[in-house]
Amino acid sequence: MANLTIRRLDDAIRDELRLRAARNGRSVEDEVRVILREAAQNRAPASSLPAPAERPAVDVSNRLAAVTLIIGGGIAAYKSLDLIRRLKERRIDVRCVLTKAAQQFVTPLAASALSHERVYTDLFDPESEFDAGHIRLARDCDLIVVAPATADLMAKMANGHADDLASAILLAANKPILLAPAMNPLMWNNAATRRNVMQLRRDGIHTIGPNSGEMAEAGEAGIGRMSEPTEIAAAAEHLLRPPKPQPLAGKRVLITAGPTHEPIDPVRYIANRSSGKQGFAIAAAAQAAGAEVVLVTGPVDLRDPAGVTVIHVESARDMLHKVEAALPADIAIFAAAVADWRVANEGEQKLKKTSAGMPPLQLVENPDILATVSKLKDKRPPLVIGFAAETEHLIDNAKAKIKRKGCDWIVANDVSPATGVMGGDRNTVHLLTRDGAEIGVDSWPVMTKEQVATQLVSRIAAEVGASR
Ligand code: C5P
Repeated sequence: MANLTIRRLDDAIRDELRLRAARNGRSVEDEVRVILREAAQNRAPASSLPAPAERPAVDVSNRLAAVTLIIGGGIAAYKSLDLIRRLKERRIDVRCVLTKAAQQFVTPLAASALSHERVYTDLFDPESEFDAGHIRLARDCDLIVVAPATADLMAKMANGHADDLASAILLAANKPILLAPAMNPLMWNNAATRRNVMQLRRDGIHTIGPNSGEMAEAGEAGIGRMSEPTEIAAAAEHLLRPPKPQPLAGKRVLITAGPTHEPIDPVRYIANRSSGKQGFAIAAAAQAAGAEVVLVTGPVDLRDPAGVTVIHVESARDMLHKVEAALPADIAIFAAAVADWRVANEGEQKLKKTSAGMPPLQLVENPDILATVSKLKDKRPPLVIGFAAETEHLIDNAKAKIKRKGCDWIVANDVSPATGVMGGDRNTVHLLTRDGAEIGVDSWPVMTKEQVATQLVSRIAAEVGASR
């Protein structure tokens, strides 16, 4: 097996890899192994790197944020050196402050080498205090992380002390503070510590951990171990990232996707080339917009989107039953390529070749799920969206379809073989919206299926927001 030299990759890819590894809590090498394994199994890797053409250029200088990391005096301080790396992997700049006690466990030199920044240790350091250094360290950052947060540091904070650089920064802070406590279980359970922690939480200070496990003191175990650096870095990133807008919060979205398989006999079926990618992308985008999403899908080779209730079906009739069972919904999006016909005389046993020639296959029409739901009286979702995959007269056919099916919107796309839409990653769509007798047509440029999904979800959010 060949060795892979990660150093030879270009900077942008290396940065993406580090970020992805950090998010998944793996080393870069392990992350590469996961990607290779998944690629070898011919699957898209989880949270895969976008194709080079679509990958946003990584601006290495564009850091997510800056953290002032206060390292307290405890044996867990050695893990804080790793925390510096974990934060930097997430594009977070780190400026370290070491308490006097911390310097018994780790050196300012090590913290400085890892953070690539000067390390601060003294409140009365003329070099930094000439411009009110402790105020600057408290304010020139987006978050203050204290790791390990010792019982003593927390006691000082809870009581507003400021007799060293760390406590002065914490008292002068106007930024969120995240504490990662670490101490002996007896100290953690001591009434004074319990009081201080409660007071700090009431003051709006965030905490992570401590975890339970073995202590540095031989034979001692219990709650008091500092959270792992990856956990602390993830909690810091969570506090630093502004919450994403959730325009579909409180809405239930029902989506169909993929092809259906219509059995001919126990081993054969009629199918179509739908990959399900567009419907899955819409499900993921609706979920990211805060909706509760139910995805009813025919057989596809895709991973279930995270946070989405996925119901797997085979035939059009199964799909209809599951869709009806999933109602009511606020929005229903029918992206599935449902087979129009099924075999009426489905063989109970495998059909055999005979000298009498080919078996006659009688086809009967499948239920039209979109039309059925659009025409429901009580349970009709307020917004019903269909898809129209056409190979000619796209807009005219889509306009006719919106009326015939009784839905509100149609996403029309040209699926003639030359477009490569079927099974491909890109889509060119027109959104037809019905307003009374009027049908508006909005033609979107060629986009990836994810982009189509995001744009469709924003249109939906604007629509349901307007009618709230
Ligand atoms: O009639 P046609 O198949 O072109 O209509 C496409 C739209 O109708 C899509 O939204 C598709 O999901 C939906 N449909 C359905 N049930 C069917 C056939 C199509 O829901 N049996």
